[in-house]
Parts: sequence; structure tokens; C-alpha cells
Amino acid sequence: MTQDEMKRAVAQAAIDYVVPKLKSDDVIGIGTGSTANCFIDALAEHKSKFHSAVASSEASAERLRSHGIEVVDLNATGGLEFYIDGADEFDPHLNLIKGGGAALTREKIVAGASKEFICIVDQSKQVQILGAFPLPIEVIPMARSYVARELAKLGVEPEYRQGVITDNGNIILDVHNMDILDPKRVEDQINNIPGVVTVGLFALRGADVLMMSTPDGVEVMMAD
Ligand code: 5RP
Repeated sequence: MTQDEMKRAVAQAAIDYVVPKLKSDDVIGIGTGSTANCFIDALAEHKSKFHSAVASSEASAERLRSHGIEVVDLNATGGLEFYIDGADEFDPHLNLIKGGGAALTREKIVAGASKEFICIVDQSKQVQILGAFPLPIEVIPMARSYVARELAKLGVEPEYRQGVITDNGNIILDVHNMDILDPKRVEDQINNIPGVVTVGLFALRGADVLMMSTPDGVEVMMAD
């Protein structure tokens, strides 16, 4: 089974989980990335079963609209039933690293506004300790050097992601080779640096349900 086939399989498993629960006035949150794209494509045939979607990026909004799914502003909703998105890494407690696609801030907002966060991944994303994947941090452009120096004081070395501007007009610093032993503490610590918009650690609000695709099928894990 290829990685693409695994992504499509886990997207279908999320469809099977979410669609029977949808009500006609529900607004659902949709994430960003190749696995989220598989979910969007599979959702298209069920678009009559819910009201609309909130997207975590312009790219996902465009893909949803291309399937005729209405995209609404989060401010126009009273909250979301589900948020379905991928991740770059997850640990046994369903803490996540996200932001490989630079959409971390909107992803964190939409996850926060949702009753249930369903994370869909293939088995390559599973780790015991987060941090092998470079940890993305969205930063206000004028604070780039200052934030980098503050991160250095924490003993980590950020790298400027060249040529990337987020949907919010900011830049990304990626922190390499960090053993994140206490994800909630690290999330707080980095978020408290002035100029940081948000760090791509999803520990304070991790996934509620995680579906992991393997060649033998999809495993479902629930948050502890
Ligand atoms: C985008 C993200 C994605 O969820 C993450 O990068 C996983 O992407 P993919 O499904 O393509 O592996 O956080 O900012």
C-alpha cells in the first residue's frame, strides 16, 4: 500500500465516522495538507448532509469551493461540531506537531472552536517523543531575529523558512531536533515569547480522536 493509498483510506475512515453524525445545520472545520485534501475530496459526495465548512487555509477553502461546498467565516458560526485535519507528528497522548504546511495558526483556532478534533494520519507520523519533525512557529515579521534569539536562550536553534509567508502575512521559524518531553510546557513557553503568533504544538488542545492508516487497516485512538 502506498502512502497516498493510506491517506485516502484514513480519509474514508474519517468520513465513515463523521458523516452519520452530521446534522443539516452543522458547520464543520476542515484542515490543510495532503491528507486533509483526501478528506475534502471524499466529503464532496456528502455535501447535502451538513450546512457548510470553515477552512484552516485559503488552499483548503478553494478546494472545498471547487467541490461546491460552502465555506463560511468562523465569526459567522456559533462554533463547530468537528474539526478534521492531518498532522506532522503525534505521540501516545495525541499531542501533535502541525504546521508543515504553514497553516498552524488557523488550524489551532479552528481546532479550538470545534467540539471534536479528529486527526487523520498515516503511520509515518507516529513517534514516542515529539520533535524529530521541525517544530514550526509562526512569527510577526518584525520580531523574527528577536524571537530567534529568545529561542536560542531555551537552547534550541530555529531556522527561517525561506520564501514562505503565511495566510496571515507572517513568517515561519522551524526548530530542528528538539526532544519535546513536556509538550504543554513547551507550547506555553514558546507562545509567551512576544512576536510569536503561535507554535505548532497542539498539546493544550490535542486531538480527541486519532485515526492512523497502516497497510493492515486504520487504527483508532482516543485521547487519554
Ligand atoms: C499543515 C499541517 C498538516 O496537517 C500537516 O503538515 C500534515 O500534512 P500532510 O497530510 O500533507 O502530511 O499541519 O499546516
